[in-house]
Amino acid sequence: MTFHPSVAEAATRVAVIGCGDISALHLAALDVIPGVELVAVCDTDPGRLAATAEQWGVPGFGGIDELLDAVVPDAVHVCTPHVEHAPMAIAALDRGVHVVLEKPLATGVAEGRALVEAAERSTAKLAVCFQNRYNEPVQRAKEVLESGVLGPVAGAAATVVWHRTPEYYEASPWRGRWETAGGGLLMNQAIHTLDLVQWLVGDVVGVTGGVATRALGDTIEVEDTADLVLTHASGARSVFYATLAHVANETVTVDIVAERGHLSLRGDLTVTYADGTTEVVAEPVTASGERAYWGISHQTLISDFYAGIRSEEPFWIGADEALKTLEIIQTVYDQTFPERLLAGAASTGNASGGGRTRP
Ligand SMILES: NC(=O)c1ccc[n+]([C@@H]2O[C@H](COP(=O)([O-])OP(=O)(O)OC[C@H]3O[C@@H](n4cnc5c(N)ncnc54)[C@H](O)[C@@H]3O)[C@@H](O)[C@H]2O)c1
Repeated sequence: MTFHPSVAEAATRVAVIGCGDISALHLAALDVIPGVELVAVCDTDPGRLAATAEQWGVPGFGGIDELLDAVVPDAVHVCTPHVEHAPMAIAALDRGVHVVLEKPLATGVAEGRALVEAAERSTAKLAVCFQNRYNEPVQRAKEVLESGVLGPVAGAAATVVWHRTPEYYEASPWRGRWETAGGGLLMNQAIHTLDLVQWLVGDVVGVTGGVATRALGDTIEVEDTADLVLTHASGARSVFYATLAHVANETVTVDIVAERGHLSLRGDLTVTYADGTTEVVAEPVTASGERAYWGISHQTLISDFYAGIRSEEPFWIGADEALKTLEIIQTVYDQTFPERLLAGAASTGNASGGGRTRP
């Protein structure tokens, strides 16, 4: 067989950092993207590392620095606990290595801003996994809103009413701790829907809200329930309720009320126009079972990222986009735990400085 160096050189060499639950979706996505080659994996857990390295037939490394030195990949996917997100992404970007980063951007706004700066000074690109923006009904909702056919948006109501067991946290204890997760339900689960609300309705300029631990307090120190009222730059007002204290995972809901119609996202999108006609945009049925709540669009986001990897344009869901949701969440934490605000980090209704340690 003839060896074609030009073809080999064209492949984008990728490593996956963190071989836990979500890495399976990243590895499966990479496996089917033309021109992308998995070259290494990394995990601090030797058992997980060995199993994943064997499954994919690539070398395994116990630390990201060691991997970056030895393999010099073109891109890394960061699928680790939240506390590692910003340091790992900054380390990669500063070496000119592209990053696909799981949400959240960071465990706090100050850290998130450092990552925004790293992305700005780097020659490499950064994508943050807000994959639900790619869901077909969500894309269609954005188109309808931007078309202006419904007129100005007055506000939105969103709910995330889900179920998490103590076992979910015991399997990966970092998820339940302020220091390693930076927060609970808002930072880990409801962040996707908060991102959709601010993306669909517009930038948020005012936040009032609170969090509580209502059902899982014996297992976790972070919150499992939250309620928020958001004021958007347009003057629209949104309400948001989320909890993990339910006994099942209900469908996420987002209702958007506009002057001449109504959009209702419940997996599917239903648009009701002023003349009474309705349009339904169905969600493709490809995800089912226990993990269906992750959504089905990781593959689409990751493919889109690699399709544009050689363009001059930054990826459209980058650090600055992801910082917006982080600012909302940190404001709610600061309002709930004012005594924990670091000196000088006043909560303004927008972002605040603040560290990652909470009660
Ligand atoms: N986008 C989504 O819908 C979605 C869904 C689930 C999880 N996530 C995100 O994915 C990330 C991982 O979540 P998970 O559920 O897979 O967690 P997990 O606990 O199952 O996996 C995390 C893995 O990272 C490894 N790890 C920890 N520290 C490390 C380090 N310093 N270097 C290398 N590896 C390290 C752990 O050993 C573990 O194998 C989190 O950011 C989470 O919020 C996103």
